[in-house]
Amino acid sequence: MTLKPLLSVLVLCAAGATFLAAQQQQPRREPLPNMNAIAEALGVQCEFCHQQPAPAEGPRHIEIAKQMIAMTRELNAKVEAATAKAAGTAVKVDCVTCHRGVAVPRPLGDVLWETTVKQGTPAAIAQYRDLRTRYYGKQAYDFGEQTLLNLSQRVANSRPDDAIAFANLNIEFNPQSSASYQALAFAYTRKVDDESAITALEKSLELDPNNAVARGQLEQLKSYRRKR
Ligand code: HEC
Ligand code: HEC
Repeated sequence: MTLKPLLSVLVLCAAGATFLAAQQQQPRREPLPNMNAIAEALGVQCEFCHQQPAPAEGPRHIEIAKQMIAMTRELNAKVEAATAKAAGTAVKVDCVTCHRGVAVPRPLGDVLWETTVKQGTPAAIAQYRDLRTRYYGKQAYDFGEQTLLNLSQRVANSRPDDAIAFANLNIEFNPQSSASYQALAFAYTRKVDDESAITALEKSLELDPNNAVARGQLEQLKSYRRKR
């Protein structure tokens, strides 16, 4: 055995020892979050992040996920500090806290609004039906009556026909919703279609006789009609 290889072995050993020492000094690496839980929280498969080869365009999902993991840790540290609870007893923020089963956790009302602006209300209505079929009963989207009520109100002045379509969609899925008939009536008044508005308000009151606002609106409309 010549001296040269022996020397390099010695050098390597020394390097290894230094490396190990450095490792021991460093804070222990945080354990990775549970991969099944992550996939479920985002409603995706493993390949969404672990795709081979990586997609050429845009930030890779795995890179976003790394930063989200770091962000979630920071949030939990802040939650613990803010609530001053004993270590490990504060409610933990997790991927699912925000994601609720979808990769881009945008509220349903915003999703539909974007579609109605970009592609028109029929497309938004088709999207609502599709999302409802796929996600109803999950925590991903809020299919409660308020989502479509808000949209109906938002477009009532500029596009009353679209407001009527949203209100009718709400009635289809919430046939007992007094507020939806009220929204329908409001949209009809924007078209100066008082007869249809009155019919809708009467239905609204039939469903909820205590709906004082609807009652007031109905009386007002009837008195206008008498004056005309
Ligand atoms: C939302 C993105 C995302 C999803 C979905 C996901 N992972 Fe990961 N996974 C990561 C990230 C980020 C890391 C850490 C990578 C690092 O720190 O270098 C990781 C690490 C891993 C590792 C450790 C080895 C390595 O590559 O670092 C394994 C094994 C793994 N994931 C398996 C899975 C499996 C199996 C699934 C499906 C059940 C899954 N992952 C779903 C983001 C994801
Ligand atoms: C405080 C809220 C919050 C938490 C907690 C959170 N995220 Fe996110 N995440 C978001 C938001 C909001 C977006 C969408 C941003 C956008 O594209 O408009 C997003 C987007 C992503 C995306 C990109 C999805 C895509 O299709 O573009 C990935 C991947 C992701 N998050 C992974 C995770 C993982 C993994 C965790 C848990 C370790 C996590 N997130 C925790 C809020 C959060």
